[in-house]
Amino acid sequence: MALTTLFLLLFVTFGSAREYTDAETSSFPKLFHLDDYERCLAKEDGLYCLGTFDLTPTKLPHTTYDLMKAYSDESYRHFNRTRIHRGYCLSDRCSSATLSRFNTTLDPGNSPEQLFERCTNFYMQAEDFHATLKSLDYCRTHSNIIEASERPPTSAEVIFKNVVYTLIIANIVGTIYHNFAGDNPNKNKLLSSFSIPENWRRLTFIREGGDPRQTALVPMEGLRVMALGFTTYAHACVIHYMYHIKNPEYLEELTQRLDGIYLSAGTSLIQVFVMMTSFLTGYNLLIYSQKQELGLHMLPLCIIKRLVRITPVHIFIVGFAATWWLDTRGGPLVSTTIGLESEACTSKFWSHVFLVNNIVDTDKYCVVPTWFLPVNMHMYIVACAFTLLLWRRRCFAVRLYLVLFFVTCLLNGFVAYMKDYRSMIYLATPEHIRRIFRDNLSFTEFYISSWGALPACFLGLILAHIQFALDERKIKLSDYKWFVYLHYTMFPVLFTWALTGIYAREHSSSDLFNAVYIAFDRPLFCILMCIGLLGAFHIDGPIRKFYSWRGWRTMARMSLTVMLLHWCVDMTIATRSVAYGTSATDMLVDWCATNLITYVLAVPITVLVEIPMQRFIEALIF
Ligand SMILES: *[C@@H]1O[C@H](CO)[C@@H](O)[C@H](O)[C@H]1NC(C)=O
Ligand SMILES: *[C@@H]1O[C@H](CO)[C@@H](O)[C@H](O)[C@H]1NC(C)=O
Repeated sequence: MALTTLFLLLFVTFGSAREYTDAETSSFPKLFHLDDYERCLAKEDGLYCLGTFDLTPTKLPHTTYDLMKAYSDESYRHFNRTRIHRGYCLSDRCSSATLSRFNTTLDPGNSPEQLFERCTNFYMQAEDFHATLKSLDYCRTHSNIIEASERPPTSAEVIFKNVVYTLIIANIVGTIYHNFAGDNPNKNKLLSSFSIPENWRRLTFIREGGDPRQTALVPMEGLRVMALGFTTYAHACVIHYMYHIKNPEYLEELTQRLDGIYLSAGTSLIQVFVMMTSFLTGYNLLIYSQKQELGLHMLPLCIIKRLVRITPVHIFIVGFAATWWLDTRGGPLVSTTIGLESEACTSKFWSHVFLVNNIVDTDKYCVVPTWFLPVNMHMYIVACAFTLLLWRRRCFAVRLYLVLFFVTCLLNGFVAYMKDYRSMIYLATPEHIRRIFRDNLSFTEFYISSWGALPACFLGLILAHIQFALDERKIKLSDYKWFVYLHYTMFPVLFTWALTGIYAREHSSSDLFNAVYIAFDRPLFCILMCIGLLGAFHIDGPIRKFYSWRGWRTMARMSLTVMLLHWCVDMTIATRSVAYGTSATDMLVDWCATNLITYVLAVPITVLVEIPMQRFIEALIF
């Protein structure tokens, strides 16, 4: 019974706009269609084209067209049905043999492009539509495919292959060396950093006891893994929007449903990751300051340490995406989805190395979740610099951070007001998601910007100071009844807070409301999360127990790899060579497969690349 109610609640849709019946939507021409790609191009005269067409009526009045137009004008919840996407095997569909069966002929024009337009137009004529080619993705012939399969590897591919070989050899040599050298104190640190058993131990080792201040933080690891799981689920849904789907109505409904609203509101979770980073940075530095004086001169060292941790895996995955990723799938949509990102990875490679990929060429995405790394790094630098400067004057620091928190929130709102940025909940329309917000300034200039994360960064610092002060005065928050209750209400409140999105959507026409919402939506989510975290640190209840499970901790150690790799894995899974149906079940299946494969792949990447490279570089420079 409870489950049914939950389901009813989950799948209820909001809004009072006119509902279209299934009969009406199925009278529209199909939004997506793909002919059999492999079969088409296997033939020697094969010609396959992929593109987008605009439809106009050939006779007036045209009731279906009018309905389609009205339907598409509700762009906040519908795809544009007058713009259709086609992948046609022209050599089959519009060959003279096929056309003669219709007792007609078609002037093929003087380019495949013209033939594509005329051919599509011919098929749309039956429904009294005229089709104009809006954009052509490609036209491919049989010989193109042969050429592509015989092309020599690009220099990027050669480099990546050599890097992989080098890493494998280094790991083998390192393991053998480490085994022979044993506990010899003079053994070469550079070589032994590649020892597989040693690095495996580092991945799976769980320290018991140790510094109680660190032990208190353990539930954060579980929370991080869960938040990452939610993120990968949201991406599994988003990725279906990018492909040719047989029932786009499902995707349209999803943006309006309660679970869709949670998915849009859940984008604030990324800010929570930033908050956790700056919390850990501040907290660890404060602990360190009890042993040693801190100073701003330590900043370069902090930055280098962090770069050494992040860069090898980041570059490895961007390198993979630029080269071998393309070969993980075949089919008509590879070049417009994986190919597009792969190209961006090649052209934006250096901006990834210098962690400015969320500032340079923001409309080109290379492995979408990588935008988070520069944001996190920039906020790390801010958190580090402030802590190194103000560690002696903690009371003043907290007041300053509070002021800065409010100032940056208001500034975000002000900039959003001036530049008309919209919050995620409002942006999440089918056509926008389909292009992953590519041409949307609210996303490329605000959502993925580093400055937009400043409030989360200051919140993390405040939390670090609170936790440090509580610990210093030996205050256990579990002694305060009100806090215990507050803590237990935090998760329900978090879920309720996400629902404010419904209200926000309805009032998004007011610029002022929109600015205020943008200013406080993500920070408030972070504040709730801060209280939840503080409770988990102090209150030895079921929540703490759950999040302290050992399994989470090993998984959390792979979170960097998982964060980046899941996008590649998921895209590869979703790139099927036909138009397919989608549903909650299909998304769930893709999500499970993505997580399984990602974690399985993350183990070797962490053990063979991340940990050894970190140890290797540290041995080299320190
Ligand atoms: C839908 O596509 C048509 C072209 O087919 C375009 O003219 C129209 O502006 C689009 N509608 C919306 C709401 O974007
Ligand atoms: C095509 O023309 C032939 C002979 O002119 C006729 O028998 C046949 O029915 C026509 N087919 C169509 C689909 O119109």
